[in-house]
Amino acid sequence: MAIAVVRNDNMTDVWKDALRAQAPDVPVYGPGEDFRESDIKMAAVWKHPPGSLKTYPNLLGIQGLGAGVDFIFEDTEIREDLPIMRVVDPYLASDMAEFVLAVATGMLKRLQYYKYNESLSLWKPKTYQRFKEVTVGIMGLGKLGLAVAQSLESAGFSVVGWTRNSLPKVRFEVFRGSAERTRFLKRSEILVCLLPLTPGTRGILNRDVFKTLPKGARLINVARGPLLEDGDLLYALDQGMLSEACLDVFHTEPLPQDHPFWKHPAVHITPHIASVSDPKSVAPQIISNYRKLIKGAVPENIVSRSAGY
Ligand code: GLV
Repeated sequence: MAIAVVRNDNMTDVWKDALRAQAPDVPVYGPGEDFRESDIKMAAVWKHPPGSLKTYPNLLGIQGLGAGVDFIFEDTEIREDLPIMRVVDPYLASDMAEFVLAVATGMLKRLQYYKYNESLSLWKPKTYQRFKEVTVGIMGLGKLGLAVAQSLESAGFSVVGWTRNSLPKVRFEVFRGSAERTRFLKRSEILVCLLPLTPGTRGILNRDVFKTLPKGARLINVARGPLLEDGDLLYALDQGMLSEACLDVFHTEPLPQDHPFWKHPAVHITPHIASVSDPKSVAPQIISNYRKLIKGAVPENIVSRSAGY
């Protein structure tokens, strides 16, 4: 009985080490190692090659190694009866909250503008805004969205939220469903997207949304690239509907060299680093889920196949 770690990046060994340190009695393997595929009971995955998990005939569950599990649902060759789990971790939430606060701060204080001017040796002061003068709209009020809202509020921003489903108990104003979306957007001077990627949310950041935001609004997308219609964003920036966008996630990652976002002066790019699962912090929940699967118990943080997250 064992765990297989399957990732598309160079972090497989770091995850294997963290899982082994957490549970020296549990065999943990990665692709290329010598093990019996029939021994694998749990696959711990991040953007695994679609179809690759079929080689493990005795899987009891699939553990995503991040908050978002869209890439697992996109693998149509995964058995329907297998539970799929995601990561819920305090660092994942607090890292995201710190990142969005930093980006929003940089926007109001125009840090990207001055960095660019510095490259031209240009001394050109511009006005700035205070936190309390600005309303941030958060789309998606799951664990990360709520952590972001809380940190922005504590810093002094006004916050409004939008959720498609249940209304969380919070002090700030929350709008719900498509009926209340326009009212939410009209308030959002900075729009932060933290929605899961599902068939229902794909392309949700589009021209209609940008046109409804206050003129010159700003966008922060830290969720998934395909939530955004790239062409609509470029149009909205060029028409002055939006003044700038900070994007951490993209349809294709790494962002292709010839993508127009790279050269656009109002698009600021980070390489999907807003909040990254910390193997040491996350390892205990993965081992605990593995032990539950082996015992026939229900693991934690199972996602819903019908909701897609
Ligand atoms: C990061 O993108 C995650 O889903 O955890």
